[in-house]
Amino acid sequence: MNYYNEISKGYEELHKQEQLKKVKLIKKYLKVSKSDKLLDVGCGTGLTTSCWRCKKYGIDPAENLLKKARLKNKIIYKKASAEKIPFKNHFFDVVISITAIQNFDDVEKGLKEIKRVGKNKFILSFLKKSKKKKDIDGLIKKYFKIKEIIEEEKDLIYIV
Ligand SMILES: C[S@@+](CC[C@H](N)C(=O)[O-])C[C@H]1O[C@@H](n2cnc3c(N)ncnc32)[C@H](O)[C@@H]1O
Repeated sequence: MNYYNEISKGYEELHKQEQLKKVKLIKKYLKVSKSDKLLDVGCGTGLTTSCWRCKKYGIDPAENLLKKARLKNKIIYKKASAEKIPFKNHFFDVVISITAIQNFDDVEKGLKEIKRVGKNKFILSFLKKSKKKKDIDGLIKKYFKIKEIIEEEKDLIYIV
């Protein structure tokens, strides 16, 4: 997490294109309505939050990334971790987490929280090269009913 605070200045320069490519792919699988409430867990600078046409919320523990995210319009951002999401049960119609799960301190706790605040639409992705790949895959399968797993260039993307 400190790593992300430190690289906040250059984050979009480094990762914008690859993250937007993932969002473009995800949009083929996830349709949202204008009235839907969407939460982006590990939203970073809001790259993966701002591109949806609905009511958008983002949480991230890295304050320096959130400062950049807050410059983006009409999104509610809160400083929080996946392990303790500050919203009530089933508050969101859609919960996404793009390339963040491998960073959670406690993946199981984070996934359980994501499930708790969501309803039945989730997009979960993490870096394929993560050392925790096998554990994360097992935990996602334990807690969610997966419709499809997409192997992208850098991420595994679970459509729930
Ligand atoms: C590769 S970035 C992805 C950011 C954003 N989703 C995107 O695609 O641009 C990983 C993010 O995970 C966040 N993160 C680290 N630990 C976390 C935790 N415990 N809960 C939620 N997010 C966390 C980092 O602060 C960082 O913003």
